[in-house]
Amino acid sequence: MASIDRSDPVILGHVLAEHRDLFHLMLAVRSSLAAAGPLPLERREDVLAAMHELRDHLRDHFTQEEQGGFLEESVTRIPRLSAAVQSILGQHPGLLAELDRVIGDLESSPADPGVWARVDRNFASFSAHMTAHERSENAVVQAGYNEDLGLME
Ligand SMILES: [Fe+2]
Ligand SMILES: [Fe+2]
Repeated sequence: MASIDRSDPVILGHVLAEHRDLFHLMLAVRSSLAAAGPLPLERREDVLAAMHELRDHLRDHFTQEEQGGFLEESVTRIPRLSAAVQSILGQHPGLLAELDRVIGDLESSPADPGVWARVDRNFASFSAHMTAHERSENAVVQAGYNEDLGLME
């Protein structure tokens, strides 16, 4: 069991590092949107590139989580976390679809004067949903690993 003890900080560190990467990609989109104000059409490609990079990273991150790893391990350790994990994983398709709608909006309405305000607002809303999602994952992993350590004492 000692080896499991030693793996805890590694797993928690990996989760936090992954979530930090996603947070930075979301920030990159926000700052490209902030810079888009005065020259919207010229900046559109930069914003779209940042959004596509985030989208690709997010899909890989979700796939990794769904294929097992820290969430599954948390349930193995503390079975009552199962419902929370199922609910968290169930949010993935909706989050990807929400980001896809923002990207699709920007791609399909280059000449729409209202597009920037709408994209900015909808991306902020997506970011808030993502942040809440990651926070609940962090909480599950922490509960899974901390309680397991507590039981072994
Ligand atoms: Fe997730
Ligand atoms: Fe995550």
